[in-house]
Parts: sequence; structure tokens; C-alpha cells
Amino acid sequence: MEIVVLPTPADIARVAADRIANLVHKRPDAVLGLATGSSPLPLYQELARRHREEGLSFAQSSAFLLDEYVGLSPDHPEAYRNVIRREFVSLVDIAESAVHSPSGTAADISAACAAYEKEMQAAGGVDIQILGIGTDGHIAFNEPASSLTSRTRVTTLTEQTREDNARFFDSIDDVPMHVVTQGLGTIMEAREIILIATGANKAEAVAQLVEGPISAFWPATVLQNHQHITVFADEEAGAELKLRSYYDHMYRNRPEV
Ligand code: GLP
Repeated sequence: MEIVVLPTPADIARVAADRIANLVHKRPDAVLGLATGSSPLPLYQELARRHREEGLSFAQSSAFLLDEYVGLSPDHPEAYRNVIRREFVSLVDIAESAVHSPSGTAADISAACAAYEKEMQAAGGVDIQILGIGTDGHIAFNEPASSLTSRTRVTTLTEQTREDNARFFDSIDDVPMHVVTQGLGTIMEAREIILIATGANKAEAVAQLVEGPISAFWPATVLQNHQHITVFADEEAGAELKLRSYYDHMYRNRPEV
């Protein structure tokens, strides 16, 4: 794992945007894995700025979303498909039809989950997956006790996550209890992963992700088994890392390959 602790979310956005821009320059038809949540927003804003000011183009790229609430009407502003449209898709030139998302309203959600996995495979898999992390260590909506090999499926949110996400709704009662999420096994198939964690409330989850034992109790720890992952944390989110000085040393002296 590469662990990069930078002073501010804006610094993370710039370095993470470089990774994505390099990929898209090399492979204009790259498959992006998009995450919702506040953590990737500065990255999306930076990519949108580069699109406007520097001609960075996603016209040939496609994208897959990680997760969706079950039962929210497709025009609900907090349905993740709409969040990603608002925060990224509408700000760049990626085709709306090239953006895929799991359905939270299909009549047969299990069949829709299996079809979503097939769609991802047919697209050749995700080239670069952007991730945030929940305070309880979830990635996408894989809550504690998720199988480390899980696939896209319906699952139940913890009360902690519903409380964390209540800020986007009128009240916690409006936060759906169920979600569709790519599984940990699905996410692990992305060729490269960028995880962004900012703020003091992520410090424990980041320390577990990087330095804890691999365990379904902290689902993000499965990422220790990924061969090409960068964990970006700001100072606050990186505050509980025991080997912090080594990670800084490693980043300053990274080999040019
Ligand atoms: C939600 C999303 C996750 C996201 C997490 C953290 O639960 N399903 O993909 O990583 O929130 O969100 P935030 O970045 O807003 O803290």
C-alpha cells in the first residue's frame, strides 16, 4: 500500500486528480469507479476544473457507481445516481449513458445485482476505483461483518452509518435502511484503487485500514490484499497512524517507476 498524508483535502484532490488524468491521457476509454460521499468532492471539483480549463476529457470514458439506496425514487436528490450526476457527471464531458449504477428500485433486485456484475465484466472491469471510507470502516456500503469476498448485493445499514448520512436527509427516519452495494470482492477486482479519507472522524478507520489486522469487523482492511492501492489522508484522518514518519519518508523517496 502507498500511504500519502497531505496537509489538506485540496492537496489530496490535486495529487489524486493527477493519477486519474494520467490514466485518461493514456487510456481515453478508461473505466472509472465513482464513489459518493463528501470525501471525493474536492477531487471531482479538481477534475471538473481541469476539464474546463485544461481540456481534460472523459468523452470516451465510462463509469460504474459503487452503491445505491434501496427504495429511494430515481428522482430523489439523494439517490446516489443523482448525487454523482450533480457532483461530477454534469461538470465534465462523460456521456450520461456511459455512467452505470446499481438499481435500488428494480422489481427483482438480486437479479439486477447479478446483471450489474455482468455489465462491469463486459466493460472489462474498473481501471481506477475511487473510494471513501465510513467511520466504521465501511467501503461502498460494505458494513462490518461483510464477507471479504462479497459481491454486489442488498444489505442493511448500521445505525452508525444511517446517523452519519442523516445530514443529507430531513431526518434520520428518511435514511433508507437497505442499500445495494458492490461487494468487497467486486471492489478488489479494480486494477487500481484510490481511497480518500479526510477529517478527524476517519482517523480510527484509517489506522485500522492501514495498520490493523484484516478483518470483516473493519471491512476496508480487505484492501491490504490489493496490489495497487493508494490511501490518501489529510493530517486529521492520518493522526492515529503509528508508522506515519515511515509513510512520509516513503512518499518523499518514492522510486520513479
Ligand atoms: C457512504 C458511501 C461511501 C462513503 C461513505 C463516507 O456511506 N456509501 O461510499 O465512502 O459514505 O462518506 P463521507 O465521505 O461523506 O464521509
